[in-house]
Amino acid sequence: MSKDTLTITDNRTGRTYEVPIESGTVRAMDLRSIKVSDEDFGLMSYDPGYMNTASCKSTITFTDGDKGILRYRGYPIEQLAQHSSFLEVAYLLYFGTLPEPDEFVRWDHGIRYHTMIHEGIKQFLNGFRYDAHPMGILVSTVAALATFYPESKKVFDADVRRIQFYRLVAKMPTLAAFAYRHRMGMPYVYPDNSLGYAENFLNMTFHGSEPSSTRPPDFEHSPVLARALDTLFLLHADHEQNCSTSSIRMVGSAQTDPYTAVSAAAAALYGPLHGGANEAVLRMLKEIGSTAGVPEYVKQVKAGERKLFGFGHRVYKSYDPRARVIKTCADKVFEVMGRNPLIDVAIELERIALEDEYFIKRKLYPNVDFYSGLIYEAIGFPTEMFPVLFAIPRTPGWYSQWQEHLTDPDQKLARPRQIYLGETVRDVPRRDG
Ligand code: ACO
Repeated sequence: MSKDTLTITDNRTGRTYEVPIESGTVRAMDLRSIKVSDEDFGLMSYDPGYMNTASCKSTITFTDGDKGILRYRGYPIEQLAQHSSFLEVAYLLYFGTLPEPDEFVRWDHGIRYHTMIHEGIKQFLNGFRYDAHPMGILVSTVAALATFYPESKKVFDADVRRIQFYRLVAKMPTLAAFAYRHRMGMPYVYPDNSLGYAENFLNMTFHGSEPSSTRPPDFEHSPVLARALDTLFLLHADHEQNCSTSSIRMVGSAQTDPYTAVSAAAAALYGPLHGGANEAVLRMLKEIGSTAGVPEYVKQVKAGERKLFGFGHRVYKSYDPRARVIKTCADKVFEVMGRNPLIDVAIELERIALEDEYFIKRKLYPNVDFYSGLIYEAIGFPTEMFPVLFAIPRTPGWYSQWQEHLTDPDQKLARPRQIYLGETVRDVPRRDG
């Protein structure tokens, strides 16, 4: 008769243990009873990079890497991209259901009226060097918000948490746009609450007399660009236990306020292997320059000299479903803003890579970052803004995961173990005279 347990024989002692299997997992703590002696600490599992460790139970986002599936609260990402807006999805992630029309009106209104940031933040911004990276500015300013909202420390108060959720979703685009304007040396543009989420962000970023070195979006086309940006935001809203989400859960496990915790998540996202990859993709495409340069670049990747940025994913071992939707967004943006010539390099790179044994064997496919940078650039964003454009929409995902973690009775302060391989005890040498 089948049983939901695992029988383990410890060949060191010959003893047998039976541990329960729940949802396809065994509890790592159950291994601790496996010992060679009473003094033995007990068996641990070793899993660098958390390749095979479930750190939580979650009801928010489902991915199936082999089948290329991504669902938020059970809804397929493709359907949400077609029928919903980013703000509806942000509501879905946090509250668990898509908003009814009257709920959406209240939610949308609440977001519009929390977009302003305290004037003190502007002074803080002015302390940054003129060429400070906008992601560095965002990571710092979002943490600084905690000092403006000290009540956010009451992390177990559901009403307090809800208000900070409104504030964070609403203020991230303002902080992001101000970070951009600071770097460009341009005056800040205040939020315009008559505009929708993405449009308001585009307006705060690009409105006014831009220096000739940037290409501002043509405002005649702003509804098309705002819709494309909104879809990109929606696709980036959550992605279960990735590096930045695991970071916010870890920091949150210490009951840190949500602004500081979001800042930690954004810091993780900043890295080139995570949210910084879209910036790296653009630099790579520019370096390749034209389709003629693709074979040589692929050769270097296969020789282990380079990395093909925007390819490969810890979870997706087939096509990243977000990359497929993003490709269609690119066409719409290029229709009004002109074709980004680097798209031809990207398409050729994808074509060659998908036919090549090296990539097929390792199941390396384009990920979400492969095409998103090309769209951002066509809209007029410099590459430094790319991780920022990832952090804005990931905020509702981070926040929902942070809340789920805090309210999960199974969770505790996150504190992994180590395998100590250093020196055993030794005496400090005396240096007499
Ligand atoms: N280019 C070339 N080779 C690659 C790439 C790549 N982009 N990604 C993986 N490989 C190779 C590795 O060298 C390794 O080869 P080997 O078996 O011969 O040693 C094999 O594929 C397995 O790679 P791992 O690094 O073990 O896979 P892992 O799951 O740890 O890496 C990661 C996932 C970090 C995303 C990796 O694919 C990568 O660095 N990609 C480029 C950066 C990128 O696009 N990141 C964005 C991810 S999406 C996101 O975070 C939003």
